[in-house]
Amino acid sequence: MPAPPTILVFDSGLGGLTVLREIVAARPDAHYTYVADDAFFPYGHHSEEQIIARVVPLIGELIDKHAPDLAVIACNTASTLVMAHLRAAYAIPFVGTVPAIKPACASSKTKRVSVLGTRGTVKREYTHGLIRDFAQGCEVTLVGSPELASLAEAALSGETVRDADIAAEIAPCFVGAADNASARTDTVVLACTHYPLLLDRLAELAPWPVDWIDPAPAIARRVVDLMGQPGDVYDGAGAEMIFTSGRPHTLSRALTPFFGGRVPA
Ligand code: DGL
Repeated sequence: MPAPPTILVFDSGLGGLTVLREIVAARPDAHYTYVADDAFFPYGHHSEEQIIARVVPLIGELIDKHAPDLAVIACNTASTLVMAHLRAAYAIPFVGTVPAIKPACASSKTKRVSVLGTRGTVKREYTHGLIRDFAQGCEVTLVGSPELASLAEAALSGETVRDADIAAEIAPCFVGAADNASARTDTVVLACTHYPLLLDRLAELAPWPVDWIDPAPAIARRVVDLMGQPGDVYDGAGAEMIFTSGRPHTLSRALTPFFGGRVPA
């Protein structure tokens, strides 16, 4: 039996699991290597130069070690900077994760869209270019959240995260008057892969209902475009989870749903 294809999914921490979950559902036959660069988390607090200098050689080491057929950079803070560097340096196909500004602006009825990302992502020229090209007449509010990714990590690790702390991070996304539904924000782009981990609480704590745009299904479709539909059942398709700090993963029960029910090695 042939070996299954290997897909590398990379993030600064646990946020990329929200992307992994969709890819595993689309290609359940593949083998997955999930790498969390927790030794350098959070990326949102580092400079552009630091992120490029960290991620580009690290991905090279991971390719040498795990020989993936494709790599997904499941992190907006990194993807908005490193994709061209990665494609120039390495021969495998890459899929990035960038703010879903185009579909959000296409679907907003009030033409008021907010982009909730790390402080790094909302500062990027790449993100500003997406707004220039795809705002389609919408007023786009950029919200750089200093702490929401860390709060999501804490919540997934079973720690208590206070409602007030989440509410404070998302408050600037809500532009307009609560009592004027036709002229207030109706769409929020989740421009950090950590945020869908908190989706239920974001919806609960929002001052009014909005559409939260999670790019993960679109990323999974892109992976299938590049790799094809699931093939035969392969022997040995499994999963592994690696923290760059070297810490063992003690969250197995919380992690298995993201790996399609497999327990990552
Ligand atoms: N998950 C990452 C993203 O999509 C960011 C979290 C961090 O600051 O490291 O942007």
